[in-house]
Amino acid sequence: MNREGLYKGKVLVVGATGKSGQWVVKRLLHYGVPVRVFSRDREKAQGLFGEGVEIVTGKIQSSADIERAVAGCSAVISALGSSAVTGESSPGEVDRDGVIRLVDEAKRAGVKHFGIISSLAVTKWYHPLNLFGGVLTKKWEAEEHIRALFANEGRSYTIVRPGGLKDGEPLLHKLHVDTGDRLWNGFINRADVAELLVISLWLEKAKNKTFEVVNDVEEPQADLDKYYDALP
Ligand SMILES: NC(=O)c1ccc[n+]([C@@H]2O[C@H](COP(=O)([O-])OP(=O)(O)OC[C@H]3O[C@@H](n4cnc5c(N)ncnc54)[C@H](OP(=O)(O)O)[C@@H]3O)[C@@H](O)[C@H]2O)c1
Repeated sequence: MNREGLYKGKVLVVGATGKSGQWVVKRLLHYGVPVRVFSRDREKAQGLFGEGVEIVTGKIQSSADIERAVAGCSAVISALGSSAVTGESSPGEVDRDGVIRLVDEAKRAGVKHFGIISSLAVTKWYHPLNLFGGVLTKKWEAEEHIRALFANEGRSYTIVRPGGLKDGEPLLHKLHVDTGDRLWNGFINRADVAELLVISLWLEKAKNKTFEVVNDVEEPQADLDKYYDALP
């Protein structure tokens, strides 16, 4: 299906230099969507994306940096993720406060759609992954902020809660989607998570949805649109 030109606005990708973020950028460019990335490291971003994307450098701890990054963007996709238990890359700083700051600045700048990679089990405070700086609970707190701010006044959100992330190409597996945080395990390719978020930009049925997703069997997929039909 030719979807070039389907989405007209510019999309800010945050966490773009990460493993999933790189796929978000790739899939946006695949559909001809203009991309700006927000990164702490211009050289790293330039090395990964070359001249094909705009780069704004800054820290997720700085509202002023985020304000510069979101200006003029109609959507934000966040693939941010913490990588340390304490300090500036901790779950509290990145997965909760960083995302909340991003949501606030996005709303202030008139952004219309906010997509994010969250995680399976974010509602389960007793899950062992929470031993890593309370990462699941921090993500859930950020999710709540997104749902509160982006489901009204012409704004929308899509929150994808994947299972364990794997590398590999998109559209190679059937997917299993669910709501209510009932899945305990499963894996999914980062590329499919990226694809789900990118198509959420233009699929009405993807708006204001929070859902879990893991791989089903290997089977080439023409697109992933149909998985949004399965959501309540
Ligand atoms: N791994 C899994 O199995 C799994 C399962 C479910 C959900 N998730 C979630 O999925 C998301 C993406 O995962 P991933 O493995 O693709 O992540 P990743 O490769 O670790 O990428 C994380 C991104 O966040 C950025 N980042 C980290 N700390 C930052 C800070 N203080 N300020 C600004 N940017 C910062 C990184 O920037 P740099 O490139 O500059 O470091 C990178 O771009 C994460 O939220 C993760 O928790 C992961």
